[in-house]
Amino acid sequence: MADDITRTPEWRALEAHSRELRALHMRDLFAEDHERFERFSIRFGEMLLDYSKNRVVPQTMALLRALARAAGVEQWTQRMFAGEIINTTEQRAVLHTALRDRDATAVRVQGVDVMPAVRDTLAGMRRFTDAVRGGAWLGASGRPVTSVVNIGIGGSDLGPAMVTDALVAEAASSLDVRFVSNVDGAHLATTLADLDPATTLFVIVSKTFTTQETLANAHSARTWLVQRLGQGTDVSRHFVAVTSETDRARAFGVDAANVFEFWDWVGGRYSLWSAVGLSVALAVGMDAFEALLDGGHAMDRHFLEADFECNMPVTLALLGVWYSNFLGADAHAVIPYDQRLRRLPAFLQQLDMESNGKRVDRDGRAVSCGTGPVVFGEPGTNAQHAFFQLLHQGTRLVPADLIGIAHTDFPLGDQHVMLVANFLAQGVALMRGKTIEEVTAELTRAGLGAEEVARLAPHRCYPGNHPTNAIVLRRLDPRNLGALIALYEHKVFVQGVIWGINSFDQWGVELGKQIAGTLLPAVAGEPTAVLSDGAVRGLLGQFRAWWSDQS
Ligand code: F6P
Repeated sequence: MADDITRTPEWRALEAHSRELRALHMRDLFAEDHERFERFSIRFGEMLLDYSKNRVVPQTMALLRALARAAGVEQWTQRMFAGEIINTTEQRAVLHTALRDRDATAVRVQGVDVMPAVRDTLAGMRRFTDAVRGGAWLGASGRPVTSVVNIGIGGSDLGPAMVTDALVAEAASSLDVRFVSNVDGAHLATTLADLDPATTLFVIVSKTFTTQETLANAHSARTWLVQRLGQGTDVSRHFVAVTSETDRARAFGVDAANVFEFWDWVGGRYSLWSAVGLSVALAVGMDAFEALLDGGHAMDRHFLEADFECNMPVTLALLGVWYSNFLGADAHAVIPYDQRLRRLPAFLQQLDMESNGKRVDRDGRAVSCGTGPVVFGEPGTNAQHAFFQLLHQGTRLVPADLIGIAHTDFPLGDQHVMLVANFLAQGVALMRGKTIEEVTAELTRAGLGAEEVARLAPHRCYPGNHPTNAIVLRRLDPRNLGALIALYEHKVFVQGVIWGINSFDQWGVELGKQIAGTLLPAVAGEPTAVLSDGAVRGLLGQFRAWWSDQS
């Protein structure tokens, strides 16, 4: 395994190759090779990855695969699945794959098989969700639950919220499941405004059970409940918790029997497969939740077993490395052509940017290449009417994943046909572009004079050559969604291995938390608090002036 990947012959070969390929346009690659789609597509289960609209030729992919081998992707993958302590800055194994392991084989962390505990938790989740969904679980006033509010942030919110939205077609139950994350009181207050406390259940999700935002919201939720149902209300009928710090959840007032455990070998942003998915299971039922796990597990097997040539996560990862490290891209867009996947970009932002937004390698040395890209996105077609202008005509190279769904669960006239046409069109437009000659001919045909044509043509032509991956699912069902999420998890993992970084810690989020902690007394108005930052003094002065002026 290479110490510094940028000093390997594989890296240098890619640098040389990128210089040769810079002048190539994908339009020409398609014209020269009619087999491009077959050559550059992978099918797995009910998923198709078409990566033909990338600035690659077969040699590019061969060189990238050689780079992955030189980085030790196969060995690191084995180490992760085997439960080795690969998150060395936190001394933890990385085993979200065990949460969805359906093979009944032992998975050991420091000699202990974790699978019995995983299965116990799943059984507990089933008992609980069946009771709530079936109306057997009663609130303190003896009424069944009609609303669930998940309180958590980051990985304790984004994954379950995204999946709950995505599986809305499965949510036949009458439960209304909502998510609150922001410490801004507006989030909790507006979420609770139309809820009946007697029939509301709160699921407090926090791996550490110390996260400021989550605890603040949990306390406010408890106050809201008690104020409305009366002092002495049995709040344990309205609060359950998901955490790896079970004592802290009990100290908050959650009944020990209603604390669902997960483990330190599950990273927050990889935790939706654990009891962190409890709100998902409440929304869609445990059978659907287990189908999600099945899909994730199927992708794990594919990732482990498929040759690099037809391995989807490896291929996506390598294409990302190609653009980030050899063609100068800094960003990556994710555009799901399905409204139900509207939270997918936000989920992937945490997954990718919290994992691979690193500047030192596993041994603490500065990395010598760019690491994770800026990830962003919005559902298509909305995104087309917002930021696609920059993708088509801006000066930056922004590779994009376009995600399409073959069957819709919400047929409305011919709207799905329109959606699919747009999904296909954007890949073509970004790839082909439109030349100045084509624009000139078009404007001339439309009857414009030569001067006007010359004036407008530069504004109306498109360079093209913008790469996209098309990912198509047969249907957005739990199994396929599970496979899609695991696809991205493994993509991020492979990239982290190539860059030689630890994708599983997140020290970069700590400093802001620390400073917020030290500023809190001053912001709260403690007279003895000292503010050393001049700008903060100025800003807080303005806040205070407006706070004291109630008009
Ligand atoms: O601050 C970042 C982070 O630690 C994420 O990694 C995590 O998903 C989120 O906060 C929430 O943490 P917890 O589940 O411990 O409340």
